[in-house]
Amino acid sequence: MKPLMTVTLAGGAKTEVLLADDIKDLSAHLGGYGRSVVWVFDSNTNKLFRQLPPSRIILESGESAKNLVSLERIISLALDEGLGRDGRIIGFGGGVVGDISSLAASLYMRGCRLTLVPTTLLSMVDASIGGKTAVDFHGMKNMIGTFYPANEVLISIDVLKSLSEREYKSGLAEVIKHALLSEDQELYKLLLARRTEILDREEETLMKLVELSLLVKKSYIERDPTETQGIRKALNLGHTFGHALESSTRFSAFSHGAAVAWGTVRALEAGVASGITDKKYASAASKLFGSFGYDLDHRIGRGEWIEYRNHLSKDKKKLGGEVQFVLLRGSGKPELHPLPWNLIQSLVMEKAIGRG
Ligand SMILES: NC(=O)c1ccc[n+]([C@@H]2O[C@H](COP(=O)([O-])OP(=O)(O)OC[C@H]3O[C@@H](n4cnc5c(N)ncnc54)[C@H](O)[C@@H]3O)[C@@H](O)[C@H]2O)c1
Repeated sequence: MKPLMTVTLAGGAKTEVLLADDIKDLSAHLGGYGRSVVWVFDSNTNKLFRQLPPSRIILESGESAKNLVSLERIISLALDEGLGRDGRIIGFGGGVVGDISSLAASLYMRGCRLTLVPTTLLSMVDASIGGKTAVDFHGMKNMIGTFYPANEVLISIDVLKSLSEREYKSGLAEVIKHALLSEDQELYKLLLARRTEILDREEETLMKLVELSLLVKKSYIERDPTETQGIRKALNLGHTFGHALESSTRFSAFSHGAAVAWGTVRALEAGVASGITDKKYASAASKLFGSFGYDLDHRIGRGEWIEYRNHLSKDKKKLGGEVQFVLLRGSGKPELHPLPWNLIQSLVMEKAIGRG
């Protein structure tokens, strides 16, 4: 295992991010923890392990498992296995497994050790660092949670091979978003220069891609560890437009990342219309998303506007009664702005036939 970076959050809590050569290297590292561990998989990520460890929970795959019942199962197993505070919960999966395992680790005996092994691109570059833990509650996403950074995050790029195209592209959109939020151009240039290798999931390229993407997230969360300074809100670029699209299309037509890609392009257009974003920059950044095959031209039907608008209004990033959008003054220069409803409507809704 190779140390990749250390992320330091509130109270000096540190997350060591380590890179494995392959899943064997990863297993050897985890094997070193002996018996005082509880593993959490889902019904897809358990298949990545040839021989499953004895003390394990296998959750149903998908968001529906992100609930208090799953949390209780993990904590019960930890108790049955006699884990102490120095015991360890290992979350082996995507963001869902990661968020529940982290919440369980933060609560078990007021906090035990936590290792995350992210197995989706989204969880590698986003969900696994930053300390946010959660389960959904009464239909509301991430309603119950804590801040509890993992002690370590172990990344093995080879696990991405089995990921579906939809999930892979979902994570890739967050990587492109990070490139736009980065103050330097390295990630942006890598995305431009290595498009084919990235789409083919070529391992060397992905290692670099994941590292650069993590560095961007690290730079925002370290400056705003508990999301109270406004800085971390920048990571919501594309999410306000995108969440409302996901909700109004019933979470089926667009993956989370595909909706974020669409939403980021709408945010770039909104920035241009408001005189904040340079037109050339917006057009180049939109082209970058387009080159990875996202559906950016989608517009909601005229009959869907009210519903879309209601979802936007519910967005939890509301501030002082107004929905705040992350706009870009340039690469790595995010700003929060409210937008007028008529501008939002003109950006997201199809034009009336026969009108200009
Ligand atoms: N804590 C945070 O900061 C943070 C940030 C972003 C998202 N999230 C949360 O993360 C969740 C989304 O994460 P996600 O996109 O990873 O979803 P996910 O965990 O549901 O994984 C997506 C799908 O991929 C499957 N899968 C995972 N790894 C695989 C692999 N290597 N091969 C084959 N299949 C595999 C899963 O079983 C699942 O069906 C949401 O609940 C979101 O709220 C948290």
